[in-house]
Amino acid sequence: MKTTNNNNFNINNVGENVTLYGWVAKKRNLGGLIFIDLRDRSGIIQLVIKPENEFYDMAETLKSEYVIKVEGVITERESKNTNIDTGEIEVIVNNLEILNTSIELPFTITDNTTALEDTRLKYRYLDLRRNELKTKMEMRHKITFAIREYLNNLNFLEIETPILCKSTPEGARDYLVPSRVFNGKFYALPQSPQIFKQLLMVGGMERYFQIAKCFRDEDLRADRQPEFTQVDMEMSFVEEEDVMNIVENLMAYIFKKIKNVDLKLPLRRMKYDDAIEYYGSDKPDLRFDMKIQNITEIFKNTEISFFKDIITNGGIINCLVVKNSAQEFSRKDIDKLTEFVKSYKAKGLAYLKIDKEVTGSISKVISETELKELKEKLNLEDNDLVLIVSDKYNIVKQSLGALRIHLAKKLNLISNNYELLWVVDFPSFEYSEEENRYVACHHPFTAPKDSDVDKLLTDKAHCYSKAYDIVINGYEAGGGSIRIHDQEIQKKMFEALELTEEQIQEKFGFFVEALKYGTPPHGGLAIGLDRLVMLLTETENIRDVIAFPKTASANDLMSECPNVVDEAQLKELGIKIEEKVDYDK
Ligand code: AMO
Repeated sequence: MKTTNNNNFNINNVGENVTLYGWVAKKRNLGGLIFIDLRDRSGIIQLVIKPENEFYDMAETLKSEYVIKVEGVITERESKNTNIDTGEIEVIVNNLEILNTSIELPFTITDNTTALEDTRLKYRYLDLRRNELKTKMEMRHKITFAIREYLNNLNFLEIETPILCKSTPEGARDYLVPSRVFNGKFYALPQSPQIFKQLLMVGGMERYFQIAKCFRDEDLRADRQPEFTQVDMEMSFVEEEDVMNIVENLMAYIFKKIKNVDLKLPLRRMKYDDAIEYYGSDKPDLRFDMKIQNITEIFKNTEISFFKDIITNGGIINCLVVKNSAQEFSRKDIDKLTEFVKSYKAKGLAYLKIDKEVTGSISKVISETELKELKEKLNLEDNDLVLIVSDKYNIVKQSLGALRIHLAKKLNLISNNYELLWVVDFPSFEYSEEENRYVACHHPFTAPKDSDVDKLLTDKAHCYSKAYDIVINGYEAGGGSIRIHDQEIQKKMFEALELTEEQIQEKFGFFVEALKYGTPPHGGLAIGLDRLVMLLTETENIRDVIAFPKTASANDLMSECPNVVDEAQLKELGIKIEEKVDYDK
């Protein structure tokens, strides 16, 4: 058995005999001496094989990624390498055994790889040998371990819940698994263990957590995978502040342990409405300022026809001020920003460059009073750039929210800090233009604010819930809520969502039944573990923190999955493929 790691050794071990195992990372022949960089999980150590060594010929046959065992003596190096932990020493080999060979590699295993991501995904087991990925896997383990440690100390029980489930009401598309025994019936893979964790509270478990795999068939983005991991938690006899308190203390524990960063607790709480108003997003990135500012009032009597129309139709005029940067933006740059906001449905982007003489798309039409008021309200100084969108509320906020992030990246305004906050007081409902009715913002078991229970049926637009999201650097790192445990409120909620008794029974009959048997008040939250690891390892690509991830089209390039299955397998499941697609075309 391998009992030592390469980086166990340093200058203090000079003279010791060691046995090492690992992979040949690099081999060089210099003046008759063969130097080998031996890599194991802990790092690199240099081996030296002298010409008089009986294993010299064997050493000459070594190629990249051969697996070897060596015995040797640790000696001090003449020319030290400060880039690696073992850079002051080398091992003079006196015994060498080749444990396995390797065929030629599709890409070199090096830190700054130029290999395409698709190639790295196809040969993920080789990619994992790279320091970068290995470090991320180690970090993921440390984070998961710290979470278990922390929650165990708070009396949480780690409990597994099923993977073959009934479809849950989470909102994304389900992955389905056909049943062989009951042809025509399907299991769904869990989008989250939501229902089970609430049932665990009904079952008296009081404090539960799970490092849970979740599956969602949704459009993928840089921070989304079709199968991902949640740190899923649920607690009985708690209120919103209790859950947030436990979770932010857990975060503080992780940040201290993993990054030696002290979080300032309690974290800031921001109402959902304010997050949208000032940042155009329910996951505001607070690492830079540049708030969205409302300037509708200044233009209430405007002669600028476009603004006038918008205001008459109930729209708003908002802007971003880019400080001291007007000269950096050419006409072409502004055109690009205009295209950018148009992709968020804004009709255009008006702008002003502040200087002795104000220029920009509305500089000729803005009145003197308007300009004066604008300068006062926004504290404008020379070389400030004002970017204005006027439209319906949602379009203005969404487009300027996205533009805010875009500009911060472009102008390098984002600090290196971690900025965490809670976004609270989410609306209970959102209006679905498609369905022409109000649908649940979270799930139908999210408790409304006590003061809004009476509005459930009468004023859905102003009904807020006991839901909260934890946001880190502009990412939604986790979310949860206090659940409804009162039968009357649950009934009202279903009614508000216009669910018929039949639909309720069909969708969550067993669950609604369970809630009738003395359900304790309860609530919880799920942290997106992959996203948390992304943030702590400073990558923007979720695939970097998952050992075997899928591509943006939910493909596993390594095992080539999804894939076709045998006719016989389909037959057993009672499934017939009507139209076969030729993917090679
Ligand atoms: P929610 O749907 O907000 O809540 O998910 C919780 C957290 O999981 C992460 N997440 C994802 N990460 C990677 N890829 C995805 N496709 C993906 N989808 C979500 C996010 C998110 O904040 N049952 C509720 C939790 C609760 O109410 O307790 C739930 O699943 O970081």
